[in-house]
Amino acid sequence: MIPLKRRKVVPSGAGNTGNTGSEESSPNKFPQVILFLLERKMGASRRAFLSQLGRKKGLQVEEMFSERVTHVICENISGDEVVAWLESGVGGRGRSSAHLLDVSWFTESMRAGRPVEVLDRHRLQCLLRQQQMREAEVVGFSAPSYACQRRTTLDNHNAILTDALSLLAENAELSGEDGRGVAFRRATAVLKGLPEPVTAVTQLVGLPCLGGHSLRVVKEVLESGASSEVEATKQSERFKALKVLTAIFGVGVKTAERWMREGIHDLQQLRDSGRTLDRSQRAGLQHYDDLNQPVTRPEADAVAAIVEEALAAVLPGATTTLIGGFRRGKLTGHDVDFLLTHPEEGREVGLMTKVVSWLETQGFLLYQKTTRNSYLEAEDGPARPSSNMDRFDRCLSIFKLPVEVKGEGLNPWRAVRVDLVVSPISQFAFALLGWTGSKLFERELRRWAGHEKAMSLSSHALYDKTQSRYLRASSEEEIFAYLGLEYIPPSERNA
Ligand code: CTP
Ligand code: MN
Ligand code: MN
Repeated sequence: MIPLKRRKVVPSGAGNTGNTGSEESSPNKFPQVILFLLERKMGASRRAFLSQLGRKKGLQVEEMFSERVTHVICENISGDEVVAWLESGVGGRGRSSAHLLDVSWFTESMRAGRPVEVLDRHRLQCLLRQQQMREAEVVGFSAPSYACQRRTTLDNHNAILTDALSLLAENAELSGEDGRGVAFRRATAVLKGLPEPVTAVTQLVGLPCLGGHSLRVVKEVLESGASSEVEATKQSERFKALKVLTAIFGVGVKTAERWMREGIHDLQQLRDSGRTLDRSQRAGLQHYDDLNQPVTRPEADAVAAIVEEALAAVLPGATTTLIGGFRRGKLTGHDVDFLLTHPEEGREVGLMTKVVSWLETQGFLLYQKTTRNSYLEAEDGPARPSSNMDRFDRCLSIFKLPVEVKGEGLNPWRAVRVDLVVSPISQFAFALLGWTGSKLFERELRRWAGHEKAMSLSSHALYDKTQSRYLRASSEEEIFAYLGLEYIPPSERNA
């Protein structure tokens, strides 16, 4: 500390005139600049000398560090030490935005006769502080628990982690372990929604849905670039066979497992076995390569044009809406999904049959299976929430989509999976919400409705159990509002 006799104490409130009250000072010429010279390491006599010099040049130099100080001048001291001293409050409290400057800024200003511009080379380096800030940034991802409370775009910053966890989810699903599958899907969705790449597993502390197993996998991938469990799964004969066989349209896990027990592990063995296949499986095997090649957006648009033509021919006024992954903005999909309706309630009855027969007559269908609507609000609605998911008139089909021929001997068409759903206009908003996906987003919406709101949500209706009544809606926004959720647009439902 400066010996008392030499210390000039500025009474608080002084300096409003822009002057420290020192007898040697010239009038304050630079009101935006208020200096404080740090005595520590600089020494009391040098500080007094420099302060006097500054005031002579018309600069305002404070004796105490305060809110008014804009520039702190230091000598022979590290930025981190200065920060620690300022934060201790020993010399008074000041603004955190004050420049922490080396004495070189001061001497240059003296030479120039005015406060010079603050350049990077004048600033004190606060290495420790920078590191602390970097470390502070490391912790702190947070997210609400339900995927329907989060905005998940297609912009995934953690694809190597989500690929690993998705594969484990897929393996669980292929092994009939649905609970584990959902757990991995939830963990995957949380990581998909993060705004930045994860660099350390410690950043994930406190995030929902990330169990010990998922965290172990994430840690291993972050540290070594791959997960041993994922790699072993990929190599496993069982996983490979299940993937190949269930990739046949019409073949589920149960069928694939039965075939594997009978020694069938690939398409050739299946063909050679002479096994009788049902109609969907025959079509699936026949168009295997086409159906396992992702559908592109232009192809989806081409299918949409055909569906529109069908509607115009069989029921003018009926409308078609692209749903599923393409509505969420995906660039490719495993199929194309459409929701058909008519603005007048009741006019949609019989629409599916007419559309399908038009498509068949025009030669656009390689395969189709239509299921009839059996949804009855009074009987099925609230009591059987999950079983009414597919009770619209629904058609699973394989389109014969004309394509530009790119070489001789190539097919002038390709097989594309297309799903058509018809809903009455009164249920349209629910159908739209229920068929836009993603599958996990839908599952989470229903879980939220049931667990948090005592409501039952399906693709037909929303039932409020507390009020014992159905809630009507004509838009997705209204349904989110009933559920007490912020509206999430389709492009942010990619959980
Ligand atoms: N869906 C449904 N009932 C079914 C099958 C599917 O309600 N029996 C819903 C799913 O919940 C999903 C939507 O239909 O929201 C689309 O399903 P699908 O085509 O399988 O998935 P996409 O998200 O479109 O993915 P992809 O792009 O691979 O087709
Ligand atoms: Mn789809
Ligand atoms: Mn589909």
